[in-house]
Amino acid sequence: MAKILPISAQKSEPLLGKLRVPSDKSISHRALILGTSCVGETLVSNLLEAEDIMATADAMRAMGGHIEKTGDGRWLIKGVGTGGLSQPDQPLDFGNSGTGVRLCLGLVASHNMTVEFSGDASLSKRPMGRVLKPLADIGASIVSSHDRDRLPLTLKGAANPLAIEYTLPVASAQVKSAILLAGLNTPGIMTVIEPEPTRDHTERMLSYFGAELNITPEAQGRRIELTGQPELRPGILNIPADPSSAAFPLVAALIIPGSDIVLKDVMLNPTRTGLITTLKEMGAKITIVDEREEGGETIGDLRVEASELKGVQVPSSRAPSMIDEYPVLCVAAAFASGQTHMAGLGELRVKESDRLAAMAAGLKACGVEHEEGEDSLFICGKDSIPGGATIKTHMDHRIAMAFLIMGLRSDSPITIDDGAMIATSFPGFIDEMTALGATFKTSAE
Ligand code: S3P
Repeated sequence: MAKILPISAQKSEPLLGKLRVPSDKSISHRALILGTSCVGETLVSNLLEAEDIMATADAMRAMGGHIEKTGDGRWLIKGVGTGGLSQPDQPLDFGNSGTGVRLCLGLVASHNMTVEFSGDASLSKRPMGRVLKPLADIGASIVSSHDRDRLPLTLKGAANPLAIEYTLPVASAQVKSAILLAGLNTPGIMTVIEPEPTRDHTERMLSYFGAELNITPEAQGRRIELTGQPELRPGILNIPADPSSAAFPLVAALIIPGSDIVLKDVMLNPTRTGLITTLKEMGAKITIVDEREEGGETIGDLRVEASELKGVQVPSSRAPSMIDEYPVLCVAAAFASGQTHMAGLGELRVKESDRLAAMAAGLKACGVEHEEGEDSLFICGKDSIPGGATIKTHMDHRIAMAFLIMGLRSDSPITIDDGAMIATSFPGFIDEMTALGATFKTSAE
């Protein structure tokens, strides 16, 4: 068993300085998967070297990809081409990563091979039926699983995969991506219709590697058509900083009086910027400096100054563009004047933990007035929050980081029961935040 790592955060001096948070997790998964699906060598710089991504790298290696670290953040991928994966001789263990497992289920679904998928205790509670259903329509079948919805499970890919047209019942980039990845080794046109736009990194990277994609707006959402069995050409990828990781120092700087920081190279893809929009509505002083295009994504440096925040209504339509940012938005809302109401949060219940319940429990423990609905959350902000609690993180990195940020401004320190999972997305979180001026105490058990 991994070591349990309780961490405390206490009232801190202003945060000052510059930070490049780790690279984008979503793009890093896709770089490894699509790099392996190319014929030839792809060079990646600034790959996120976190546990979730290393699990995907191991899975791609086990299926024949050659993935090698060549320097700091620099990786070389020698691809096997679409349809070129080979049957792994051991189960693929995705650890804590929902993105890794769901995307790889899609990839495997159109290969004539049988693969066992597993994960840690948190991942083994998360629903897989949402991807398995369309993959069954494509022709894949579940050979073994407890309830056809959870890991561990064994998937037999289709010998003759069928192109389907599938309308997403939930706004999920993982489900969309799983179907498109299955489409790589499927003859014909694989079609996904998404009623609400979700992060589009798979589409962007597929186009970059030369796949034929047709994206058209629908009355509601978008229709995405992928022409199957493309020959993907390798390329060079430089991965920008992850806006979902940047969210933590960003909110910390907003709530700690006197703070003034710059977050470097943050990806500003419009399918990911819901938190920035919301915080600006709350009165946050966030200035985008040096906005530029790099590798098909808009990126920029964010100057963030401590701000007087006020409560707002966050519409459910914004949820897909900030789905991973609600835990830390709760922290901003807790220190804002007035009330914040967040709607359309149903998907938070099936993340690395039930994030809605975990946030509500933590807010209660720290003395923040709030109300948890089935898929909504109401928070009544205050200038001072008692803190002084130990928070259950439920193996969820974003719950862990959110409450550590809250502890940097609460009256008494906040302790999280276990910070080990932070390494799944933001290795170096404690050191990088400490360098900006945050105060933490770590005690390994
Ligand atoms: C992700 C999609 C989102 C997000 C997750 C990463 C991706 O999940 O929460 O952290 O990389 O496609 P859903 O697709 O379940 O919304």
